[in-house]
Amino acid sequence: MIRNTALGLAALAVMPRRVLAQMDMGSSGTSPALAAFQDPLRIPPVLTPVLRGKTQFYTITMRAALAKVHRDLPTTIIWGFDGLYPGPTIRATKGHPVVIRHVSRLPDTHQDGGSEMTMMYPAVHLHGAHVAPQDDGHPREALPPGTFRDYHYPNQQRGATLLYHDHSHGQTGMHVYHGLAGTYLIDDPEEQSLGLPQGDYDIPLMIQDRIFNSDGSFNYMLDSNTRETGMLGDTILVNGVVMPYFKVARRKYRFRIINASNARSYYLQLNSGAPFVQIGSDGGLLPKPMAKTLVELAPFQRADVVIDFSAYAAGTRIIVKNCESCVGCPDCSGPLTSVMRFDVDAAATDDSVVPDCLSSWEDLPIDAQTVTRQFILNRQTTANGTIWTINGQTFDMNNPPLVQVKHGDVERWKFVNLTGHRHPVHIHLIQFQVLDINGVPQDPSVHGWKDVLVAPPNGQITVAARFKGYTGKYLFHCHNLEHEDLGMMADYEIIP
Ligand code: C2O
Ligand code: CU
Ligand code: CU
Repeated sequence: MIRNTALGLAALAVMPRRVLAQMDMGSSGTSPALAAFQDPLRIPPVLTPVLRGKTQFYTITMRAALAKVHRDLPTTIIWGFDGLYPGPTIRATKGHPVVIRHVSRLPDTHQDGGSEMTMMYPAVHLHGAHVAPQDDGHPREALPPGTFRDYHYPNQQRGATLLYHDHSHGQTGMHVYHGLAGTYLIDDPEEQSLGLPQGDYDIPLMIQDRIFNSDGSFNYMLDSNTRETGMLGDTILVNGVVMPYFKVARRKYRFRIINASNARSYYLQLNSGAPFVQIGSDGGLLPKPMAKTLVELAPFQRADVVIDFSAYAAGTRIIVKNCESCVGCPDCSGPLTSVMRFDVDAAATDDSVVPDCLSSWEDLPIDAQTVTRQFILNRQTTANGTIWTINGQTFDMNNPPLVQVKHGDVERWKFVNLTGHRHPVHIHLIQFQVLDINGVPQDPSVHGWKDVLVAPPNGQITVAARFKGYTGKYLFHCHNLEHEDLGMMADYEIIP
């Protein structure tokens, strides 16, 4: 039943027997037309931990469940953490360890486009987290149905907007698409004194795109198109609701905008023309707030923003638009341009502020002695279709790590993209600083600490990171999930 191996010949040789029967469903399909702003935004529940000593303990079960994502779509089966799409929110505090027991009750096989395929076992990765290798959700440590694993998160890192998601071998794209992603926030008690909006006014917005079948189910395809572009939807959802509206009070809100889409980048603007005030990126707060009329988010990047609704009259409606080709245009029409709508409502007291100085910043020390590594991002065409490579290799769990880094060292990693596609590069464990994009030196403090950065088409990026805290093997990969599943991933190893 293996019609199309996702990982190329080298990988095929070592893949377990019960491997993906492929999901080459052919024709793409289009979602039924769905009216925007019909359903209210949902805010995923924040789970309450059980205390075990100092440790906050959670149990989360991955399982199939029903979800309704738009007024005019039937309820459909999703795969969710605790059966929710997206998963519940975890709110951790810096310095307080969290253990999450992830239980898998996902099915063994999956019916898609009329053929049955074997599902790879899930592994859960906390994206952006500084954790030991055994807690990093490596696909080699995946969970068979009915089993669990305790993932230990020390939360000894900056306050940040993280997310957890499936990282199964060769099927991360399919699993995440069907719902396996959720928000994980680390609050830093020191940030409390800044006076940023909090509580009910601090809200995660997880943006995804999907194609729906007429029965409401999510249409996932790995075909010749999506092997190229990654799985792109034709309809945008926020927190699992198609183009929702959200009633806001006339005051400031903090939104943790998370792009959890398989392959789509967003170019977000407010149709009022007002800027977002960006206060944080992937790895936590920026040194200074930045007013931005356009917020660009590649897959799995995050933008922490404040929007002030106090200047608007009650009844004002503000649309969050996604405009790639019409940046700055007053009215973007066309598919995929509406993300959500804010409906300004009653006045509210607001003692929150956005201070001019949010956090301290130090450039990583880089000099002529700094180790510089180069990674070539490229493609190969096989009998089964396109596969994606780093330094000529596709991912294989049995490969030795592509590079070994000495614990504690700062290194420069340069990604050279020889393809015409954007590759959002993600490195596990560390947050990096951006040094250079296409030869143009960057001020890293403007980008903030990042864990995903786009290697532009036929271009290059250079980042710097300190590899510290743990030794062992970690992944780095393209975070276009189909590129990742089709080989554009490798292990690196931190050695003592
Ligand atoms: Cu967001 Cu390797 O993952
Ligand atoms: Cu990650
Ligand atoms: Cu890619």
